[in-house]
Amino acid sequence: MEVFRLTGPASLHGSVDVRGAKNSVLKLMAASLLAVGRTTITNVPAILDVRIMVELLGRLGCVVDYDPDAGIVGIDVPAEVGIQADYELVRAMRASISVLGPLTARMKAAHVALPGGDAIGSRGLDMHQAGLEALGATVHLEHGYFVATAQAGLRGTEIALDFPSVGATENLVMAATLARGETVISNAAKEPEIVDICTMLVEMGAKITGIGTGLITITGVDALRPVTHRTVGDRIVAGTYAFGAALSAGDVTVRGVGLELLPNVAIKLRDSGAVVDDLGDIPLADGTTGQGFRVIGTRRPRSIRVATMPFPGFPTDLQPFVIGLNSVADGVGLLSENLFEARWRFVQELARLGAKVRIDGNHALVTGVPELSGAEVEASDIRAGAGLVLAGLRATGVTEVSGIDHIERGYENFVANLRKLGAPIERVVRAEGLRFG
Ligand code: UD1
Repeated sequence: MEVFRLTGPASLHGSVDVRGAKNSVLKLMAASLLAVGRTTITNVPAILDVRIMVELLGRLGCVVDYDPDAGIVGIDVPAEVGIQADYELVRAMRASISVLGPLTARMKAAHVALPGGDAIGSRGLDMHQAGLEALGATVHLEHGYFVATAQAGLRGTEIALDFPSVGATENLVMAATLARGETVISNAAKEPEIVDICTMLVEMGAKITGIGTGLITITGVDALRPVTHRTVGDRIVAGTYAFGAALSAGDVTVRGVGLELLPNVAIKLRDSGAVVDDLGDIPLADGTTGQGFRVIGTRRPRSIRVATMPFPGFPTDLQPFVIGLNSVADGVGLLSENLFEARWRFVQELARLGAKVRIDGNHALVTGVPELSGAEVEASDIRAGAGLVLAGLRATGVTEVSGIDHIERGYENFVANLRKLGAPIERVVRAEGLRFG
């Protein structure tokens, strides 16, 4: 079994390049299905989830070439694409559900398996289903698959989301681009990844207004054209390194993501005593220009109070890093999880490092200790895994994180980047433990 082995304490110093957002690029790739011809997506991170999406699009009949080093995916979409997203792939990556809208709009039918996904509580899809039905599709569950049909094509309508769901907003916007007439989505999600996909759709010829607001209006068109699009930077990966600096008394410059994508995060990092500087436009590793920022951590952070909220609130995906920071901070900190059924498996692992966390419903109350103590811990999802690695920076001795395939689903070159920032971390093979029977 391969694990990440880190010897602490250590702090992060230097600069790190962050490429496109996992949570955007997967949807941009799905959106390519809306146009016949070759779509090119750039600033693509080299992560496992992109490979899974490449496989899914290939099985749908697209010819996909992916250059992970250059960060480019080219997708040739034929006139007729398949309509089935297999359980095997959707199970491996929940974001596969984002082909549901495009396939229903373009092929008038889709069979998409119901996902399993991250171990972060039950994640409903009722708004995806209800929205497509409002657009004129029939959607029912058959043998574990969503079966959507819209023989007469989709037609514009008004959709009021119960909650600003990222996935439902994306699926419904994509579907509505090829519907007859006007669709108005209220209580839509405003995340930067939504802005990114809407921007690409507009480049493809879609008519969308209200992008980045809670009220998105889409006027359907007959067809879209393929384009070349650059993926927005990954604010969650950027936030991970930012918390790494704040938690480890480090000094990290993040290149490729601007602070405007992390409004609430910058405020909370400053509350912890860190200095956060907006560097504006700076040169990026790929020769282009993009935004950057710098975080300088204090010797011992102050504990912070954070409530996760839809954008522009504090992102739920950075929740483990808040708990990690609070676990070594001065004082008592609080994290309230408002988006998902709480992901507390992470907390149980953090407790193995000596963190003092009390869970009460969706709240994690953390009493900071001066230092943690290295141990073997297990990642239960992408961010929990990265959170355990960062906590290991403030733990004396060796911390070994298993379940690293979770981390590699969302972080490119995680070990290499941390090593570049000065952390003594390596990927090693750990002998299997006890065997019975
Ligand atoms: C996306 C991100 C994820 C992030 C989340 C919130 C991807 C691949 N994943 O997930 O990293 O944590 O946004 O920013 O982009 N819900 C329903 N019914 C629905 C849809 C959602 O009840 O039809 C609920 C979910 O159970 C959850 C909440 O709404 O409690 C938020 O879900 P949503 O915004 O849809 O998140 P995802 O798109 O799954």
